[in-house]
Amino acid sequence: MSDEPIDLAVALAGFDQLWSPRIVTRVNEYDVRIAKVAGEHVWHVHDHTDEFFLVLDGELHIALRDSDGDGERTVVLPRGAVYVVPRGTPHRPSSADGASILMFEPSGTPSVGDRHDEIPEHVDATTGHVL
Ligand code: NI
Repeated sequence: MSDEPIDLAVALAGFDQLWSPRIVTRVNEYDVRIAKVAGEHVWHVHDHTDEFFLVLDGELHIALRDSDGDGERTVVLPRGAVYVVPRGTPHRPSSADGASILMFEPSGTPSVGDRHDEIPEHVDATTGHVL
């Protein structure tokens, strides 16, 4: 982990994989992760943690369901928007035209959550790669 300032534009230019978060730094027990996304992620739930999103570029949609599984809605996050998905909330991020995002969540949090639908080929199910 670098102790130098991190240029997020440079960090984002350093990889191409979609839905494959990179850990840029840590704050206490939290990872600051960046990811490039396009198309759909997978429906999943984080049972024990909220998940913070900041849209750096493009537009991110996050589909949300009530914890009992119905009542679906989608929040639209343009560039510069932040949103927190509360723990226990089924969600599925997507971006039709592609986006770059920053996430803030406890180290070790799998990007596909604790419970999820079948993971498609294009989604990285790890807990993030250190840059
Ligand atoms: Ni999530």
